Amino acid sequence: MSHRLVTLNQFIVEQQKDFPCSEGRLTRLLSDIGAAAKVITREVRKAGLVDILGADGSTNIQGEEVQKLDVYANKTLISFLKNGGECAAIASEEDDDIVVVENAYEYTSPKYVVTMDPLDGSSNIDVNASIGTIFSIYSRISRQGKANVDDVLQKGSEQVAAGYVIYGSSTMLVLTTGNGVNGFTLDPSIGEFCLSHPDIKMRADGKIFSVNEQNYHSFNPGVKKFIDYCKEVDETAGRPYSARYIGSLVADFHRNLLKGGIFMYPSTQKAPSGKLRLVYECNPMAFIAEQAGGRATNGTVRIMDIKPTELHQRVPFAVGSENMMDQLQTHLSAWG
Ligand code: AHG
Ligand code: MN
Ligand code: MN
Repeated sequence: MSHRLVTLNQFIVEQQKDFPCSEGRLTRLLSDIGAAAKVITREVRKAGLVDILGADGSTNIQGEEVQKLDVYANKTLISFLKNGGECAAIASEEDDDIVVVENAYEYTSPKYVVTMDPLDGSSNIDVNASIGTIFSIYSRISRQGKANVDDVLQKGSEQVAAGYVIYGSSTMLVLTTGNGVNGFTLDPSIGEFCLSHPDIKMRADGKIFSVNEQNYHSFNPGVKKFIDYCKEVDETAGRPYSARYIGSLVADFHRNLLKGGIFMYPSTQKAPSGKLRLVYECNPMAFIAEQAGGRATNGTVRIMDIKPTELHQRVPFAVGSENMMDQLQTHLSAWG
């Protein structure tokens, strides 16, 4: 039996044929993100040693200042994106405003902007559960000069590419460029992301529901009824569904993508717009879900049709298998 090993870089060079007008520049940008992900992986794998090597703000054994992982991930990605020369601006969860890339190669102005959650699920670091990085790529709207905030406040439907990296038992990068979804597992022995999950499809019928039920009391009636439905015993319909919730969007989404399921972070009384951020959490996941055959909404409209007005805007979020999303919609329509 012989398997052809396909690395992330080989794969995106192949896929570049689908973007003849991008002249290899998207390829470069994606491989910059892949390279940053490897560096972040190295640091994530050391996180448990922080008490030995020194906590945030203190110095480690080598006398270097130790950074929090989310700050480290942010700096690493920004540095790779700046040096790569293909990114005109970055919108990050860790920065109040966009980071404009001032000295991008002068002979050719960069065509793309990137939005990102450099480290998602940070509360899981201390307990050694999976965390991740989420990103989206857009073509900039401004033609030349410095990029501006409108370049990153585009509808999700304008995404050129989106993906996430999950730092789990393996590190894996899941990517869409609008032509299906593919997963690449980092082989630590060769330091390459290798195509391990080609053409990922999300089952139409899932059996998992993922929501923080601590908030049940303050969900809208339709959401409550849907959760009741998920837990109701109906053997012929395959219910009750399993409850699975890690509290790390990347990890919860990844499991549901591979196994089929629904993830929700609805509005609550305390957080009427939910918790998750449209520009760098919900839109990339929505793009991946749709490309795998799933759906994503805020309960009323498709996530990728919402025009963002602010960088850090939150939206109620539901994403998952097609038929489960239909059932959610039915309950929302009946109960509000
Ligand atoms: P971040 O670590 O980037 O701030 O994101 C945390 C998010 C997300 O990963 C997860 O889905 C959600 O917070 C969980 O929130 P609750 O603890 O309220 O369930
Ligand atoms: Mn996050
Ligand atoms: Mn984060």
